[in-house]
Amino acid sequence: MSAAPLQIVILAAGQGTRMRSSLPKVLHAVGGRPLLGHVLATAPALLRDTAAAEPPVVVYGHGGEAIRAAFADVECRWAHQAIQRGTGDAVAAAADQLTAHGRVLVLCGDVPLLRPQTLARLLDTPPDSLAILTASLDDPTGYGRIVRDAGGAVRGIVEQRDASAQEQALREVNTGTLLIPAARLHDWLGRLRADNAQGELYLTDVVAQAVADGVPVHGVPAPSAAEVMGINDCAQLAQCEAEHRRRQALRLMEAGVTVRDPARLDVRGEVSVGRDVCIDVGVILEGTVHLGDGVQVGAHCIVRDSVIGAGARVEPFSLIDGARVGDGACVGPYARLRPGTELAEQVHVGNFVEVKNARLGPGAKANHLSYLGDAQVGARVNVGAGTITCNYDGANKHVTRIGDDAFIGSNSALVAPVTIGEGATIGAGSVVVRQAPADALTVTRAPQKSVPGWRRPRKKPVP
Ligand code: UD1
Ligand code: CA
Repeated sequence: MSAAPLQIVILAAGQGTRMRSSLPKVLHAVGGRPLLGHVLATAPALLRDTAAAEPPVVVYGHGGEAIRAAFADVECRWAHQAIQRGTGDAVAAAADQLTAHGRVLVLCGDVPLLRPQTLARLLDTPPDSLAILTASLDDPTGYGRIVRDAGGAVRGIVEQRDASAQEQALREVNTGTLLIPAARLHDWLGRLRADNAQGELYLTDVVAQAVADGVPVHGVPAPSAAEVMGINDCAQLAQCEAEHRRRQALRLMEAGVTVRDPARLDVRGEVSVGRDVCIDVGVILEGTVHLGDGVQVGAHCIVRDSVIGAGARVEPFSLIDGARVGDGACVGPYARLRPGTELAEQVHVGNFVEVKNARLGPGAKANHLSYLGDAQVGARVNVGAGTITCNYDGANKHVTRIGDDAFIGSNSALVAPVTIGEGATIGAGSVVVRQAPADALTVTRAPQKSVPGWRRPRKKPVP
């Protein structure tokens, strides 16, 4: 990479009219992260390898403080572009935070999938030259076209709406990523004119100025068109999401994960994996997720901000959010684990069971139709079908404690705060409001009685 100081400017002030959305364009998400977040994440990787670098300058305007607030914890500088008069004007808004040394890398906030290694190619060009990251597209509609002379030298960039029919046929486009000698920037920006179809100050016009001033211009092709895709409308957003999905699935497969169908796995965050993980179709992994050795995730599950222990199985249609699932545990099908759930090893949580802020000890089972909220459940406890921890009295939440080896009969209501002793048995259908002693049967339902010879009422005869 270049040893000259690198300054990074990220353009993010545009309204994104074509998104037809009240959310500023760069806050729309790909892979669960705002477009601008992707671009900001690329910058530190570049700066690490570059001399005397300062944090990137983000040019914001449309959407104003919402954008700053969304990235309050990211190291960057901000430049405000009050009126969006074009990409050239946007860079000018950042100019007083730039020095005249080294080069200025201009990135677009709406080009989220660029990789540092691709930008490194751009930085490899000679330090006193202007370099453009280009791409060759089957359908270049909407992009600025790279105009070269007969000898192949870059002459300039012409925007779609200003291009002649001949120019529109050119398939090499500007990706919006330019590397400009800092010493020239001020002069070139000052000479931009808005005499074009959009009445804007185009940054792309600096290329023709460089050519006129005898500054060498390099068009550096990007390795793939998908990587440099710019997002201007919802269709492009979806295309970009698909590319992101493909990349993430590929990364997991490279790490040894069996992905049943990479087109039907969505990774929206940071996923780490052990060996021999298997993921079925329709799965969404969000936030920070770890899947231990041999984990199997069944079809159509959502796992968010959770750790799944080695050998655990998540059966189809389960939602796991903010939970820790122990080794060898089995969850689902149709289970919902909410934040604060901790399942120890070998726990079984079955269909239509909801668990929230609860710990289930080793080998505990709640296999059917239960709600366990604000609960401490001991080892080997069996929670019968339909058991409910009544944790909320309408004002406050209370805790249910169930000792090791207890057996809760089906359809019991445990009215918290309540403690079930170790080894206790709760008869089916009980409503438990007081402590249930250890090793005893507690049953609160009315005793069964039978009435011999009882006759059902008969229908009155029709008159
Ligand atoms: C721009 C390029 C085009 C390139 C394409 C690549 C220009 C004139 N055109 O076109 O050659 O092929 O990107 O995706 O540079 N922005 C501001 N302030 C403004 C205007 C825009 O900050 O006043 C920001 C936008 O938020 C966006 C980026 O600059 O992140 C690009 O603007 P956009 O309007 O999307 O330009 P394109 O028409 O895509
Ligand atoms: Ca764009």
